Amino acid sequence: MTSIWDRANRQLRDLAVYEPGKPIEETAHEIGAHPGEIIKLASNENVLGASPKAVAAMRAAIESAQLYPESSGVYLREAIARRLGLGSENIILGNGSNEIIEFIGHAFLDRGDEVIVPEYAFIAYKLIAQLFDARTIETPTANFQPDLQAMLSAITPKTKIIFIANPNNPTGFLIEQEKIDNFLTRVPDEVITVVDEAYFEFLDDPPNTLRHVSNGQNVVILRTFSKIHGLASLRVGYGIASRSLIEVLQKTRQPFNVNGIGQIGAIAALEDSEHVLQSKRIVDAGRAFLEEQFSAMKLKYIPSAGNFVFVNVGDGPTVFKKMLARKIIVRPLRGYNLPEWIRITVGTMEQNEKCIAVLKDVLS
Ligand SMILES: Cc1ncc(COP(=O)(O)O)c(C=O)c1O
Repeated sequence: MTSIWDRANRQLRDLAVYEPGKPIEETAHEIGAHPGEIIKLASNENVLGASPKAVAAMRAAIESAQLYPESSGVYLREAIARRLGLGSENIILGNGSNEIIEFIGHAFLDRGDEVIVPEYAFIAYKLIAQLFDARTIETPTANFQPDLQAMLSAITPKTKIIFIANPNNPTGFLIEQEKIDNFLTRVPDEVITVVDEAYFEFLDDPPNTLRHVSNGQNVVILRTFSKIHGLASLRVGYGIASRSLIEVLQKTRQPFNVNGIGQIGAIAALEDSEHVLQSKRIVDAGRAFLEEQFSAMKLKYIPSAGNFVFVNVGDGPTVFKKMLARKIIVRPLRGYNLPEWIRITVGTMEQNEKCIAVLKDVLS
């Protein structure tokens, strides 16, 4: 009998499934604990919770759940654009910023095209490239710092897209302003560069990449409401680019791709500067604590610019399992081929202290 796989697009056969952070409910069930006892530090979520202003706005919005949402999210796009000093025609919304990565694939990738990413880049780029049967070229890193010159040298006539997360997940490494400027100005016009800034709001002195959009370069900047705004479950992200690039991406989008409740929550979250500030403070203090502890424990880590820390624990999968049994979910990095490393999301100080105490025990 023939298999349905023989009829499916051939590249799907070997496409890895994205492995998300282990959910709280599933963990509680597996280890026979109450969900309230589990500490999840595995998906770079906001430990402070959602913006309270967003929650209040969404409670009211749910009363109109029978109505289709604004199709392209014009009010949210206008609100984002106002903050950035751009027009709504420079913004596209996605069902999470992940969906915009897929739009970029739909718009620009064909079988045999090439996509360049630094090794250990956020894994979604590679998965989307494969979905469109494009080839991913991974360029080297030195101590997890991308070699930008190697990325430029890897460009061929087949190169369609370059992806860079800044800071990167899972490493937390940030490319500074001068280097990213120099890089973006040297990428030829035929190649689209995607700068994924999912953790932008956690940065003290964020590189300004918007200037490259304003200069008319083929750059798409990705941002999200999933991280500092605490709306990961709502799935709202956005892309920023030139008017013509956004016009192309809009063609690839299904109508109503971002739900109306999420749109309203995101508008309120943008206004909630207090929540953003407080979330950043918690992350700044918690990340300093974790990094200090890792130093004291003589564990190698990469100084992080995000709300997570990437740390070498020797045997990542075993440490993950042992910590799980102790009700703490961290992120093993099998999919990244980094078996010695785990990624730990910064929690509340109480969660961070517990996490370190358990990690010490597990490693002793
Ligand atoms: C670098 C990076 N980009 C994109 C995303 C996806 O975010 P979203 O929830 O907006 O799809 C993540 C989530 O972990 C991320 O780390």
